[in-house]
Amino acid sequence: MSTAAKAFHAEFEVSRYRQDFPVLQRAVRGKPLVYLDNAATSQKPSVVIDALEKYYSEYNANIHRGVHTLSEEATVAYEDVRELCRNFVNASSVQEIIFTKGTTEAINLVANTYGRSNLEAGDEIIISWMEHHSNIVPWQLLCEQNGAVLKVVPIDDDGAFVMDEYIKLLSPKTKIVAIGHISNALGSINPVKEIARLAHEQGAVVLVDGAQATPHTAIDVQDLDCDFYAFSSHKVFGPTGVGVLYGRQDLLEAMPPYQGGGDMIKMVTFEKTLYSDLPNKYEAGTPNISGVIGLGAALNYLNSIGIENIAAYENELLDYATDAALKVEGLRIIGTAENKASILSFVIDKVHPHDLGTILDHDGIAIRTGHHCAMPVMDRFKVPATARASFAFYNTRQEVDILMDAINNARKVFA
Ligand code: ALA
Repeated sequence: MSTAAKAFHAEFEVSRYRQDFPVLQRAVRGKPLVYLDNAATSQKPSVVIDALEKYYSEYNANIHRGVHTLSEEATVAYEDVRELCRNFVNASSVQEIIFTKGTTEAINLVANTYGRSNLEAGDEIIISWMEHHSNIVPWQLLCEQNGAVLKVVPIDDDGAFVMDEYIKLLSPKTKIVAIGHISNALGSINPVKEIARLAHEQGAVVLVDGAQATPHTAIDVQDLDCDFYAFSSHKVFGPTGVGVLYGRQDLLEAMPPYQGGGDMIKMVTFEKTLYSDLPNKYEAGTPNISGVIGLGAALNYLNSIGIENIAAYENELLDYATDAALKVEGLRIIGTAENKASILSFVIDKVHPHDLGTILDHDGIAIRTGHHCAMPVMDRFKVPATARASFAFYNTRQEVDILMDAINNARKVFA
């Protein structure tokens, strides 16, 4: 390793953080695992795995229901994570933090509650061309139900949001603007604060899909001035099956519930049901208690490293990977926006991404190949699929070098 690379690593203590992740110690097909599929899901540190084990082995109980010790302990642990999440996105109150199954459910929640009760035929919803399917399909379903109209902001040849076209689409008919903070397929960082400001001028509400942003950048929903912000635990080093919807308190209070069931009611008779106050109103049924507790451990872990430190390290790593990729003959990067984070999507002449992914797996390298749940992005760039290396703070320059060597070898196989 070069002196510069050593200094770079030493500053961030990446080798120490790698020790926190048991899976990073394993081999795949006889080679050390090089895990570069963090946008699909991130790996979990021991503190998260231990938190799950501790919950199940020491205080497994349902929450908000029991007077017994175990239930009280579980309830406190679960609600403590709500405060951690409030702090993580800088919401003004824990009432604004709703636990969901993930980003997808959070967006569906808003479409089915705010959307159904506020939009009429002819109203417009604006999304962008780079959205994940989970920020497209819920709005299409809403449009089918309400007769609302979906408008799509184009992206340029670099994969950047075209602000001028967005401004042209905005009008008093715009009721919802739903935008990804960072594209999972391209890595583009969207100017969500400005997008929200312009939407609010038209009286629209703004939902930000933060699934891809939360592991890589600090989030401040008050500064962004968005109305809803959604993210997933499994992308921020927590367990699968849990996510968070931040919603502005006045909106959450006015919206109808999403699902009916236990824990979201104050009183039920056959004639009428009174709903719980926030946030329980949106958390029907027994939630993913262990998952929420695991998410708390993940956020504490992230806070101990510092998201700003993570962002700085990852930016350097992405620059390093981008420079290295540009030296590979026949490689074209898909997604070259000026503001980018953590994603290197690419295609290579004469090598199908799926074949590349399979060959790389033989070297213990995990990348994702395909449309990345963003088919319109593939159409925009006229490619059937891309290969995508997605980075986390535990990845290293050495791993990037291994990736580039393996890509060059694969090219030779197909030449
Ligand atoms: N949305 C996830 C990805 O980008 C699954 O791979």
